[in-house]
Parts: sequence; C-alpha cells; structure tokens
Amino acid sequence: MEPGDGIKDSASGPIRVKLSPVEETMMLTLWSRARDAASPKPVLGDVHAQKILDRVDTASFSPTMFPGDSRYDDYITVRAKQLDEWCKTFLEAHTHEPIAVLHLACGLDLRAMRLQPWCGENVHWIDLDRPEVVSLRRRLIPDPNSAAVPRRGYAEVLPPLNYRLLGASATDESWIEEIPHDRPLLVIAEGLFPYLTPEEGTALLRRLVKHVVSGCVVMDTVGKILTRYTSFMPLFRGTSVRMKWGVDDGEEVARCHPRLYLVETVLFRDLLPGMFASAAPPCLGVLTPVFSLLPSWRTYGQLLRLEF
Ligand SMILES: C[S@@+](CC[C@H](N)C(=O)[O-])C[C@H]1O[C@@H](n2cnc3c(N)ncnc32)[C@H](O)[C@@H]1O
Repeated sequence: MEPGDGIKDSASGPIRVKLSPVEETMMLTLWSRARDAASPKPVLGDVHAQKILDRVDTASFSPTMFPGDSRYDDYITVRAKQLDEWCKTFLEAHTHEPIAVLHLACGLDLRAMRLQPWCGENVHWIDLDRPEVVSLRRRLIPDPNSAAVPRRGYAEVLPPLNYRLLGASATDESWIEEIPHDRPLLVIAEGLFPYLTPEEGTALLRRLVKHVVSGCVVMDTVGKILTRYTSFMPLFRGTSVRMKWGVDDGEEVARCHPRLYLVETVLFRDLLPGMFASAAPPCLGVLTPVFSLLPSWRTYGQLLRLEF
C-alpha cells in the first residue's frame, strides 16, 4: 500500500490488542474485504482493508476468523454492498435537510469513507462500537473529518464529514442522547443483531424508534436454523461466540415498535444463487448441504430495510 492513503502508519510494528470473542468477529469481515479487494473481480473493492489488517497483530485471535473459503468473502461483501446501496438511496432522498446516520457495530469498516461522496454538509455521521474496538479503530483509521481523509479510491475532493466515533455497547442506554432526535436517522447494523439476544435487539430498536422523528433501519439477520445450531458453526468453534437472535420473518423485527414497518427483504439465497448451499458459506460445516434441504434454510440469512 502506498503512503498517503490515510490509514495510520506505525513505527512500532503491528498493534497488539486483546479483544473479546465477539469483538474479534470484526477481523473476519475485515479479512474478507481484504481478500475481495485482491480478487480478480472484487464485489466491494475496499482497497484499504489489507493495510488495516497488516497493522494489527492477529496472533492472539481465533484462527477461525480467517477462513480460506471464498464463499465467506462473497457473503460478507455482497452484504456490505447491498447495505451500501440502501444507504445511498436514503442519503440521496435527503440531500436538502439535516439528517443523521448511526452506524452500529462499525468495527474496522470504512463505510463512512465509502459513502462520503453521497454525504453533504447536512449529514451528521456517528460510528459506534464497543470501547475496545473504538480505541483500536482510533489508532488505525483517521476520522473522515480530519485533515488526512483517505480520498483516493473514492472521490477526488470531498467536503469534510461531520463525524463522531462513540465507544459504547449498543445495548447501553447511555448514548441515545448523543443521537439527534429532530431529523431523519439512518441506522445501519451489519453483523450486530445476530449476536444480541432477541430482548436486547428489540429493546435497542424500540429505543431508537422512540427517540427519533423518523428514519430507516438497514440490517442483516440470520435464521433460526443458525441460532439453533450455532454450536456447529466452524467459525465459532473453540470460542464463546454464539448467534442468539434468529429471525425467519422480517415482520418479527418490525413488531418491535408500532411505528416501525418492513419495506424490503433481500434473501442471501438470492444474492448468492446456487444449488442447495453450493454458493452459501459453509456456516454449518460439512453438514451445510444437508441443512440446506430443510425449508427453514431459505431464511438462513436476510437483509432488511425498515422505516419508521
Ligand atoms: C461481525 S463484526 C461486524 C463489524 C462491521 N460491521 C463489519 O461489517 O466489518 C461484529 C461487530 O459487532 C460489534 N458488537 C458486538 N456486540 C456489540 C454491542 N453490544 N455493542 C456494540 N458493538 C457490538 C463487535 O465489536 C464487532 O465489531
């Protein structure tokens, strides 16, 4: 990677950090974005992911976070791309009024930078993740509103983004007052809700909808088939990570609050077409093709767009 791409350099070698197992899952998505960018036909083309990865000492992380099967990369990058598309639609529909974006569980993802060309001065962008992740992120990635915004690969000249990075658990009630309540809010949650219990997930959505005048939520879900058999998942073998909130019908999510309604559902099965589980990541290990014969496999992964 050439100098001047905005990712922070270090004289002291890769950063050593101890993360909790669920925090480590952000290495899986970063790994997939880096592999995608290096592939002949990138889906997302995140040219900074490899440099961020190189800056972290990954020796203490679970080796399962770095799978060699490219179907994980496909799953993760088509997910990010679809969510980016929905974000762009929202940003384009609200160019003439103040809006806020809340990117929950941002990990080490550069979505704010990817979408900066769609963000005018009307946008207040807030990235949030757990405190350990946020402190690592601060050491690696400059804020998009700082002087050293990585512009190459995205657009030539971009206005500074009104940006904040919050370190807190999404399930804490404390940070809600930091979110503007008087303007439309775009909530993005990629790879978060499956790790929360249904009670935590519904309480979070309810809190957000109650707090803000109007908005949109874009998020991914995993089906009950994955939460039921989460202990079979090779990704989480030897770790305490479990998927807890299984959703087979997006209307279940909409029922969190009377003002929340489901606008669109995209099945991973349609984004990654293939006979049985041939294109899906082998999330249930060698048994994945067998599980894929069950009717409930249809909703093993979904992307939802909701409004309120
Ligand atoms: C699979 S990673 C996804 C990260 C990022 N969205 C991406 O696509 O690269 C899951 C992320 O959820 C975060 N996370 C898990 N539980 C959380 C919570 N209660 N509050 C905030 N973030 C949480 C983890 O720290 C981690 O960054």
